[in-house]
Amino acid sequence: MCGIVAYIGVRQAAPILLEGLKRLEYRGYDSAGIAVLDGALNVARTVGRVSILEELVETRGTFNGSLGIAHTRWATHGGVVERNAHPHLDDNTMGHGIAVIHNGIIENYESIKTWLVEKGHSFASETDTEVLAHLIGELYHGDLETAVQAALREVTGAYAIAVICATEPNTLVVARKGSPLLVGVGKGEYVVASDASAIVSHTTQAFSLSDYTVAKLTRESFRTTTLDNVPVTPEVRELEVDLAQIELGSFRHYMLKEIHEQPRVLRTCLQGRVDTRTGSITLGGIGEHARTLANAKRIVMVGQGTALHACMVGSYLMEELAKVVTEYDYASEFRYRNPIVDFGTAVIAVSQSGETADTLAALQEGKQRGALALGVVNVVGSTISRETDAGVYLRVGPEIGVASTKAFLGQVAVLAMLSVYIGRRRFLSQEFVQQFLQEMDAIPAKIERVLEAEESIRQSTARFVDRENWLFLGRGVNYPVALEGALEWKDISYIHAEGMPAAEMKHGPIALIDKGMPVVFVATRNSQYEKVLSNIEEVRARGGHVIAVATEGDDYIRTKAESVFYVPDAPELLQPLLSVVPLQLLAYHAAVMRGKDVDKPRNLAKSVTVE
Ligand code: BG6
Repeated sequence: MCGIVAYIGVRQAAPILLEGLKRLEYRGYDSAGIAVLDGALNVARTVGRVSILEELVETRGTFNGSLGIAHTRWATHGGVVERNAHPHLDDNTMGHGIAVIHNGIIENYESIKTWLVEKGHSFASETDTEVLAHLIGELYHGDLETAVQAALREVTGAYAIAVICATEPNTLVVARKGSPLLVGVGKGEYVVASDASAIVSHTTQAFSLSDYTVAKLTRESFRTTTLDNVPVTPEVRELEVDLAQIELGSFRHYMLKEIHEQPRVLRTCLQGRVDTRTGSITLGGIGEHARTLANAKRIVMVGQGTALHACMVGSYLMEELAKVVTEYDYASEFRYRNPIVDFGTAVIAVSQSGETADTLAALQEGKQRGALALGVVNVVGSTISRETDAGVYLRVGPEIGVASTKAFLGQVAVLAMLSVYIGRRRFLSQEFVQQFLQEMDAIPAKIERVLEAEESIRQSTARFVDRENWLFLGRGVNYPVALEGALEWKDISYIHAEGMPAAEMKHGPIALIDKGMPVVFVATRNSQYEKVLSNIEEVRARGGHVIAVATEGDDYIRTKAESVFYVPDAPELLQPLLSVVPLQLLAYHAAVMRGKDVDKPRNLAKSVTVE
């Protein structure tokens, strides 16, 4: 996924565009570029971070002008080299000085490229975006909006684009299909960006473009149309992003900040929804679908990455608390496996960004087959949230760190609330719900206790940080936590790690264990604790180094593990909200010790809005 920013107004565009790119850099950071129109089209592109582009712009000193576009890239088509960085221009010989930035994938770019080559176009990059720029140029006959509409009628795939033309100094054309795009409406100016974080410092009034919509922005006004030039009226709304939430503050990295935010944001997530006195759950976003949901015959939870791990925990919670048959699947698998979605099925899409292409497509697939479509999403107004019949926002605030932490906690907490919400409409007694909600309410303070032990976790990490190849093992609700621990480890330290059910180790992976191999067990006291202890013995017998996440007061496990990270006791179903925290800190400190870029790990992006 990439970040795009565009500006038209009366102020200098370059500083606004560069500041916006910095806010969006978590979306992709392979390379960056900018184009500003000031009589002539000034373009600068570079491999690497926005800060390098900023230096380039300052050195050139020619980026004046109040109309411009800028882009930070996560490579899809074409390697990470300058010629593949955006903006891309239409043909430099036959062209009109058209510059394009793009987030998404033009799926039929090769056939269009063939057609354009036959018309004499020559290409400098391997990207699909350059093909789009040339196509717009080929279809340009003096009106940029018309040319963009015509070009987009020819393409298939996903796009959020911004386009300017050297011969139209008072026109910025933007369009979207499948990738997010927000238009910030200021006073005599517009700031367009992939998400609100690049807009809110200029205006809090904005509208999202719907799919297949084009907007033409001038310094005086804007208009939005379909690709066939039929006017559509967008809904301007108040943006809810608070800049303070996306500042780093005193923390060294966003990931560490977000780990430490977890007690507070979990309280925010529960606030106004959980009433421990009456034992009731209020989920306003479910609305008139409460009864349908309470009568669901089957629930399918879909997501990718960390969100999928939350789905796995959620499936245990839902079956235990609501007694509804619940399964989980990678969204990318669900969407293509011709899923059985019968009457009474609810599909729950879990996604922090609300923009992950596979998760969106899986939700649409379920909906198309008659399922009730729910969303468990963090970003308000995101594409997935707008595609659902109903949903519950995480309310954990923007998550900038590419390795997901507080969003996982929010996802599990919301799925727990949803499970109780449905269960209370089926079998759960008020007394049980009161007790369970009181336990949920106590979790934030318990997370604070875990965070107090950060230094000892960091010291333990130092003992193992040079090891390659790690296993993360758990059983029951802690099995997805083991997967999450392994994922965070891979994400930011680039060390291979594998998570699996503790019992599964005996069926192959135990062959990996040799002297000193680090094996992390999520071994909190619960119904499978004794079984986990047996697996620990199997690892010790082969010389493996055991690192255990255990329940406070469990002294016995100290005799079995080289390092023990304690978490306060909690009901089994809520233990993932605690047992994941030491693993987040373990991964974070390992990455710092290994000198990795924790918030922008190589090859990754915060949300993948392409398939
Ligand atoms: C990956 C992110 O790209 O997408 C992960 O790096 C995230 O942190 C996964 O878990 C799914 O993203 P989302 O926004 O759908 O939860």
